[in-house]
Amino acid sequence: MATSSTLQTLTPNITFTPDWSPGLGGGVWSTAVLLTNYFQTHPQTFTEMLSKKSALELGSGNGYLSVVLSTIVKDLNITCTDTPSHLPLISKTFSENSLSSSPSRTITVSSLLWGTETLPSTFDFIFGTDVVYRSHLYLPFLSCLTSHLSPLGTAIIGICMTDTTSDFFEECKKANFRYQRISDSKGCDGMRGVTFSLYVIEWKP
Ligand SMILES: C[S@@+](CC[C@H](N)C(=O)[O-])C[C@H]1O[C@@H](n2cnc3c(N)ncnc32)[C@H](O)[C@@H]1O
Repeated sequence: MATSSTLQTLTPNITFTPDWSPGLGGGVWSTAVLLTNYFQTHPQTFTEMLSKKSALELGSGNGYLSVVLSTIVKDLNITCTDTPSHLPLISKTFSENSLSSSPSRTITVSSLLWGTETLPSTFDFIFGTDVVYRSHLYLPFLSCLTSHLSPLGTAIIGICMTDTTSDFFEECKKANFRYQRISDSKGCDGMRGVTFSLYVIEWKP
């Protein structure tokens, strides 16, 4: 988990107050810091890739990562999701950073229980960090990805290797996804010598 001082270093202009009362997603976890850093290291790539597109965050917990991406890609239509208990904290993080829907983009906060609930659309970009931390979550999570990733869509998932086994990647292949770890050389600060990584997941061609 990240400390508040780490967060301030990474994103000095973003306000975030951890609140553990909703559950595990009440504070920002390690791979969320990594993906934040990755977004901020490659702002032009994400702006070109996602301008006027749709994005879905799974298991956001706190809204922090969606807020970071929304400040980089200003015309991204973003849907930020988790279990119902986390939604007030997610909404608070958006409102504390003065982010809401406008004529150029929509911002939606919604419940999305993996494998149980389905949203009525697919998305160009899906992201989630520290989300497959228990083996019983692998199949529901992949079911959710299957339902929501558009045919040419891209997902980036932050994985802590001490929590996620190789079974997750086997299940990815069975679900018709291909995956690739984002290499240290293409990455950002904080990727070397740590037990967590970012993975790109896409449909097999
Ligand atoms: C370890 S926290 C990570 C939070 C945030 N993504 C981060 O990296 O800071 C895992 C999150 O996944 C959510 N989660 C776990 N199981 C879920 C499920 N079946 N459906 C939807 N969300 C789930 C939890 O509520 C929690 O917010």
